[in-house]
Amino acid sequence: PENVGILAMDVYFPKTCVDQAELEKHDGASTGKYTIGLGQTKMAFVDDREDIHSICLTVVSSLMEKYGVSYSDIGRMEVGTETIVDKSKSVKTVLMQLFAESGNYEVEGIDTTNACYGGTNALFNAINWVESSSWDGRLALVVAGDLAIYSSGSARPTGGAGVAALLVGPNAPIVIEVGARGTHMEHLYDFYKPDLSSEFPVVDGQLSVASYLKSFDMCYQRYMAKLERKLGLARGDASLIDYFVCHSPFTKQVQKAMAHISMYDFKRNPEDQRYASVQQYLDTPIEQSYTDKVMERAFIGVSKDELYKNKAEVAQYAAKNLGNLYCGSVYGGLASLISQVPSAELAGKRITLFSYGSGSAATMFSLIVRGDTDAIAKHVNIVERLAARTEVAPVDYEKVMELREKTHQLRSYTPVGPTDNFFPGTYYLVHVDDMYRRQYARS
Ligand code: ACO
Repeated sequence: PENVGILAMDVYFPKTCVDQAELEKHDGASTGKYTIGLGQTKMAFVDDREDIHSICLTVVSSLMEKYGVSYSDIGRMEVGTETIVDKSKSVKTVLMQLFAESGNYEVEGIDTTNACYGGTNALFNAINWVESSSWDGRLALVVAGDLAIYSSGSARPTGGAGVAALLVGPNAPIVIEVGARGTHMEHLYDFYKPDLSSEFPVVDGQLSVASYLKSFDMCYQRYMAKLERKLGLARGDASLIDYFVCHSPFTKQVQKAMAHISMYDFKRNPEDQRYASVQQYLDTPIEQSYTDKVMERAFIGVSKDELYKNKAEVAQYAAKNLGNLYCGSVYGGLASLISQVPSAELAGKRITLFSYGSGSAATMFSLIVRGDTDAIAKHVNIVERLAARTEVAPVDYEKVMELREKTHQLRSYTPVGPTDNFFPGTYYLVHVDDMYRRQYARS
């Protein structure tokens, strides 16, 4: 098969959100800490009516209906998530109930679990399947997303909720670029979920921020070396890349990632005029910037227009307005880009994605736009859909967080959240019976 890539996509996010400026006030944080310091506008959250099963049921059924795809056309489905309600029964098997009516039970693939990176592994599996000898000619579905919820404290404003679904197959308008990929994986305790009775992660915030940037540096170097080889260039730099779509715990982190691109490109081309203001860092190792805020700020300054504003910011729309989607973050970013930039402008462009998961697992890889993306833009419609949400006061948001904490993993439980404030077509939890079996309805 040729031109294997993304044929269609959709993103689901809950209807409720909290305003970050309001949350700053409510939390007694200094004005601007969440909005400027973290670069966030709104944060999506769910009450006890939604869980990882329901949000995945919603996004898959939405994609299939919007694009008119038949469930019998799917030969593989992979879910990437770190939100676990069951240690044994995969989310994928729950999603199989959507296939019942079509009679198609022959669907390969299962869940991938890792902080923020499961979706990327799921996508690679789907692409590999289509390109392999096991391919049966049908399409693959990739589902990537999470409910990102932190205990109260400094990490809480970096939560979020949402899930992306991607339809993968040959002759796609958005094609995976062969031979351009850089990966970095290592053993780290920066963010993990050892307490299986809680939704909250254990987080070493500063380590996770530094580890993201170190992984970004390693991936960019490896990715660029491969791109140079592929294109037959002696020296490549960010000018080869039209758009960056980065995993976004909060958008300030992506501004820092762009600063790291300019650190690396500067080292390889120090005479360039655009680096006049940072000449003093020529012999300073890039790693110093993990702790040296003055150095980091200098390169944020160098990269803010040419890299962040021109190439990366458009893909940060969902992240800014939803928060961290963990496994879905980078794909919410791709949806933001496709949804806002017209197809004619995207034609032939290289989109470079950076996926980072704590622990840690990271890959930089690219997509090339080869066909019309207008249908995806129309169906994702990110700006209008995000504007149609309901804002909840921080005090009520906190009550919902307490409710989730108290009722997490209960059996014989009927959720108390309202059932009249969903987007149409949203699946929600109706009851958990005495054997923990979950029953859902659709709005
Ligand atoms: N106005 C403007 N900026 C402000 C203000 C203000 N009033 N107050 C603080 N800031 C800035 C700070 O200078 C800092 O920016 P900088 O990093 O560019 O210097 C930023 O806001 C954050 O402030 P900190 O004091 O560093 O925040 P804190 O330590 O309280 O928490 C953290 C930040 C560590 C990111 C925390 O939210 C966290 O642990 N989040 C979860 C982990 C995470 O998201 N990690 C990212 C990668 S891993 C993953 O995706 C899960």
